[in-house]
Amino acid sequence: EQTLRAAAAERGFDVGAAVDADALATDPSYRRRLAREFTAVTPENALKMGPLRPSPDTYDFGDADAVVGFARAHDMRVRGHTLVWHNQTPSWFRPWEYTDDEIGEFLRTHVHTVAGRYRSAIDTWDVVNEAVADDGEMRETVWYDALGEEYLDLAFGWADEVAPDADLYYNDYGADAVNGKSDAVYDLLSRLLGRGVPVDGVGLQLHALGDWPDPDSVAENVARFRDLGLDVEITEMDVAFPAGEAPPDALARQADYYAEVVETCLDAGVDSLTVWGVDDARTWLRSFREFPERYTGDPLLFDDAGDPKPAYHAVRDALGRS
Ligand code: G3I
Repeated sequence: EQTLRAAAAERGFDVGAAVDADALATDPSYRRRLAREFTAVTPENALKMGPLRPSPDTYDFGDADAVVGFARAHDMRVRGHTLVWHNQTPSWFRPWEYTDDEIGEFLRTHVHTVAGRYRSAIDTWDVVNEAVADDGEMRETVWYDALGEEYLDLAFGWADEVAPDADLYYNDYGADAVNGKSDAVYDLLSRLLGRGVPVDGVGLQLHALGDWPDPDSVAENVARFRDLGLDVEITEMDVAFPAGEAPPDALARQADYYAEVVETCLDAGVDSLTVWGVDDARTWLRSFREFPERYTGDPLLFDDAGDPKPAYHAVRDALGRS
């Protein structure tokens, strides 16, 4: 039987997975599945500022190097996630002890160091993650408070300085279909492009949790971003039901939705879809805040035992159809 990876490669399409660095280090079957079934990886946490920077003067690139090295050994693409985010900053980083200028300098050094280190290994970066709040206003993060909206201009500029060949993305959740939030993301990207900021693409995370974005509306949304001249990728897909509300045919419905999204991508000129984890046993939904009480914990393509689910076959078969 054809693997997912082979079906994707034949189609010139990337199917990526978020990678758990611990699993990669300890579980040979996880490593085998990843290399056999996917064409690309995104380190799930290893490239975030907190994990990378245990103290003010040191970087710990161990986990990130391991993921990047694995990808290189198995000829897989790497999406770098993420240079600038308000979450998972180092616990020692106390912004109130810095002036605004010092925060800018801190961020510049971080972007230069990390994007520079991986300039030849990482061809796509989520430069800025989740800068728009759910109400469509700019999110009031440490970066926004110190530097205003210009922090995005600066971050993309710094990334472009040290990784001129990389594709530089803005990435967000809840902006998958046409809605108030994606309107705000669209407006933000229009402003950035208008100011000449080197942004190449927009990542739609597509965490389909309970409320699954309508594929036709996703297509319409993709089209308007592409009309701006941006590339679009699906960057963090997973599909869950509200806890306690999964229907008897949940796995089949989940599979159908995955297939519809793949078909939407193929029709809309999107050539990369990443799922946010390899197997259900390690999904973030089982450990994140109140999410285990809110959603079913089986959103991915492989089950707890690492066996392919109906969703796996649906994605592979959708890629195989012409
Ligand atoms: O590694 C530490 C461990 O040393 C510590 O003992 C333990 C105690 O809490 O925490 C571990 O770190 C956790 C880390 O995941 C690795 O498991 C963090 O607490 C936990 O907050 C972190 O969650 C990650 C989350 O981002 C952080 O906000 C999830 O794994 C990751 O899937 C999730 O990914 C995000 C994307 O980056 C952006 N889009 C949304 C997506 C889902 O929230």
